[in-house]
Amino acid sequence: MMITHCSAALALGLLQLLAVVHGQPFPNYHANFVDIEEQPTDLKWWQTGAFYQIYPRSFKDSNDDGVGDLNGISERLSYLKELGITATWLSPIFSSPMADFGYDIANFTEIASIFGTMADFENLMKVAKQLDIKIILDFVPNHSSDECEWFKGSAAGDPEFKDFYVWHPGRMVNGTRHPPSNWVSVFRGSAWQWHEGRQEYYLHQFVKKQPDLNYRNPKVREAMNNVLRFWLAKGVSGFRIDAVPHVFEIAPDAQNQYRDEPRNDWDNDPDDYGYLQHIYTVDQPETIDLVYSWRAVLDEFQRVHGGEERILMAETYSPIDIVMQYYGNATAEGAQLPFNFLLISELTNSSNAWAYAGTVQKWLQHMPKGRTANWVLGNHDKPRVGSRLGRDRVDMLNMLTATLPGASVTYQGEELGMTDVWISWKDTVDPSACNTNPSIYEQFSRDPERTPFQWSDAADAGFSNASKTWLPIGEDYKQINVDLEKTQPLSHLNVYKQLWKLRTQAKTLQRGETDVKALNDNVLAVKRYLQHDDTFVTLLNIYDGVETVNLQQSFPDLPAQLKVVLVTERSKFIVGDLINCTSVQLQPKDSFVLQSTSSYFGYATNGEIRQLPVLAIYLWLAQVALYLAHH
Ligand code: GLC
Repeated sequence: MMITHCSAALALGLLQLLAVVHGQPFPNYHANFVDIEEQPTDLKWWQTGAFYQIYPRSFKDSNDDGVGDLNGISERLSYLKELGITATWLSPIFSSPMADFGYDIANFTEIASIFGTMADFENLMKVAKQLDIKIILDFVPNHSSDECEWFKGSAAGDPEFKDFYVWHPGRMVNGTRHPPSNWVSVFRGSAWQWHEGRQEYYLHQFVKKQPDLNYRNPKVREAMNNVLRFWLAKGVSGFRIDAVPHVFEIAPDAQNQYRDEPRNDWDNDPDDYGYLQHIYTVDQPETIDLVYSWRAVLDEFQRVHGGEERILMAETYSPIDIVMQYYGNATAEGAQLPFNFLLISELTNSSNAWAYAGTVQKWLQHMPKGRTANWVLGNHDKPRVGSRLGRDRVDMLNMLTATLPGASVTYQGEELGMTDVWISWKDTVDPSACNTNPSIYEQFSRDPERTPFQWSDAADAGFSNASKTWLPIGEDYKQINVDLEKTQPLSHLNVYKQLWKLRTQAKTLQRGETDVKALNDNVLAVKRYLQHDDTFVTLLNIYDGVETVNLQQSFPDLPAQLKVVLVTERSKFIVGDLINCTSVQLQPKDSFVLQSTSSYFGYATNGEIRQLPVLAIYLWLAQVALYLAHH
């Protein structure tokens, strides 16, 4: 009787083990399994990429003229490697009179002398290749500089360039000439500028030294496609596309007239961009197809030359339904990463955990199936994240973006906790502010987020040896700088580094499913899970009270205990602590990452790491022992 019983138990145990070895999911605490086969197995380099924006004027000055340059970037690229960065996108480095600090390009295939030479660029590509950091350039399609040969030719009526820009003779009212429409420039005042030479107005959606290119002219499209091809041939891995929504404006009507845009009642300043509803100058439907055509140029280059996928990152602050169209559709591919600016545009200093959860979910829910998410915390046009959402939230925000699915984009200095620097009217150089006046310029200036990178506590923060840098150095540079933060185990810099290290090691963070929840007004949780792999939970206490949360109530399938794997200086936990999921305490503005403690042994099959439940093995061993004991 006993023998029969033991044999049956032994057979059962063996069957159980066999089932596991053959890859059947053994019941564990993941309630909502996703079959591993459904997970992408061949993630492309950009799909989990850590992207880093370099603003070249402010990164590192190698020749002590007070402005950063290409050799400065080459010298310090290894710093990005230390951070764990996959790719860096550079704000424009092309020949320019710098009316908009490089966003006014005089020659799209030449390097600005202030940044160096083509040889310096080629050297940067070499260094980047050695370090395995990809270089992404800024592609500025909407406009050129008025000092570009194309514009000069166009203004002179040269047949090749005549229609390269948007020209119009203006409206005659009672014998007086007026601009063709009421359109306002993003940087204040009429978007039309009279040109004495050509005796016509030209359109400029930004400053008057940035005339808009005419994308209704196929020659312009081809010229710009050639710009893409030129830099692809130099080895770049893709482009950030500037000011995408502005590229097209409505075509003139049958009488060759442009329609006026309607007014916004809430704005009484006719020179202000907010005065009008931009229904004819922004988000025209043709723009989407234009982006698809740029993607086709990249894909064609790839077909011919091979290598890893080249990518497009599109800058658009458009409504979400429009942003999503930039990804592509059923028949055409678009930008791999239309920038997700929701963390910039929708969160404020007083947003609660529900708002954070809603903002993250908004992107994930709108994103078409099979596309890759991305998370942007800052750039050279917006107040720094520490100034916008709080210096004491820098770590939790970096933690959030590094543990969410997809790519994330860091603006230089935000890994250090650099914040905006107040700049006097006298020192202000941004055209967006200089076009206003001393009483309102601060609302418009982008100089505060563009100040030099803080490398050390040396003069000029180690950025330069010039007697004057192009923008002043932040006053906090003695406390917030790379050298010092390297020595502090839980500095912003070190938390950032650990985050990206964890991200590269943890398959779940790269390709797992995501569940984002507010646990109460103040605490946000991000759970990442993957079949046969570890579960991670990131917790953020957005406010200043001590919070206690019950994770099992919100995520019933979590195990009883989780292990702390990453903390900030605000935490009472240390890495390795085990915590009970029913009662997790967070300190004010605390954030940490938790990981399931594996009670499973891994084994490899078909190149996959699968896991053996320890419990099953124990049971089986016990059954064997029982059997042997009776023989
Ligand atoms: C983009 C750039 C910004 C620039 C503008 C005009 O928004 O990010 O810096 O001023 O386009 O090119």
